[in-house]
Amino acid sequence: MNVLLTGGAGYIGSHIAVELAEAGFDIIIVDNYSNASKEVIHRIEELAGKRVFAYEVDVCDKAALSEVFRKHDIDAVIHCAGFKAVGESVQKPLMYYRNNLGSTVTLLETMEEFGVNRIIFSSSATVYGVPKALPYTEDMETGPCTNPYGSTKLMSEQIITDAAAARPEMSAVLLRYFNPVGAHPSGRIGEMPSGVPNNLMPYIAQVAVGRLESLGVFGDDYPTKDGTGVRDYIHVVDLAKGHVAALKYSLEQSGVDVFNLGSGQGSSVLDLVRAFERANGLKIPYRILPRREGDLPAYWADADKAERVLGWKVERTLEDMCRDTWNWQKNNPNGYDE
Ligand code: UFG
Repeated sequence: MNVLLTGGAGYIGSHIAVELAEAGFDIIIVDNYSNASKEVIHRIEELAGKRVFAYEVDVCDKAALSEVFRKHDIDAVIHCAGFKAVGESVQKPLMYYRNNLGSTVTLLETMEEFGVNRIIFSSSATVYGVPKALPYTEDMETGPCTNPYGSTKLMSEQIITDAAAARPEMSAVLLRYFNPVGAHPSGRIGEMPSGVPNNLMPYIAQVAVGRLESLGVFGDDYPTKDGTGVRDYIHVVDLAKGHVAALKYSLEQSGVDVFNLGSGQGSSVLDLVRAFERANGLKIPYRILPRREGDLPAYWADADKAERVLGWKVERTLEDMCRDTWNWQKNNPNGYDE
């Protein structure tokens, strides 16, 4: 069965590719490499133990995308391509709307033209906006989002939902990711943020490798157990396996369904620092800084629906996430640039 994976050279996409291959699917990757390296494809093939088709295609480019659909008989699509930096989306909102919404619309049009009916979409917990209650459950009201990046995820969910309503043969699964971290246990693929990392785990990893001096903890006066921000961290391999489960589910279904992909556990910034120190026998120096603008104090997933309906739940601990992050970071201090 042929699965088209948009953004398949990215951090999450590359891990999905490996898990799909392991589950016996054939993979066709499209990626414009705007935030990814071509070396990733070799690493995916090495881990998958088979050939992967990969095309340098921007999903907004209808002609180029159609060419891929013409070449391959595609059975389902997993749509991960998109810009994802929260801060950048505040600075360049139109670039985010054009790219993230344009790619979703172009992909859906092309799917319709080629009679492809199944789509799994990379959404985000950010669609829930400021928590009305915790944990977040899938039936909660969504939005308003706290930044344009989040709005593009929420709007893409709406676009896919409308497209599916107009085509009853369609099956769409919206996956709301919590905080994906970690790397493949082989240390061959992982996250490679460009410049100084915005996110907590890659920042910790770069402190550990000596590239950055100390971690800045954004606020210790939140109403949480130790005053630092609380999130639901999920190992990227567990997240990738969630896509395989969602894909199998979509083969049996029509209509739209939505699932949280999280652990169901909230961990604070200091929990993560301590887990990293414990897992790797290292010391992570940190200092307390003021709160980061736009950050929510705490949120985590209700992960029951995915377990009940997809038969999927996380299997990896915070220590696993920290160990695998460090294994990737120390073996690839410059990311994919060898
Ligand atoms: N944090 C620090 N120091 C850092 C980086 C982060 O203390 O250097 C803290 C944050 O304040 C927050 C926690 O670590 O409490 C996690 O922050 P991340 O930046 O790692 O992740 P966010 O929860 O802010 O962002 C994630 C995804 C986004 C998504 C967002 C909302 O990375 O894509 O959740 O769902 F939009």
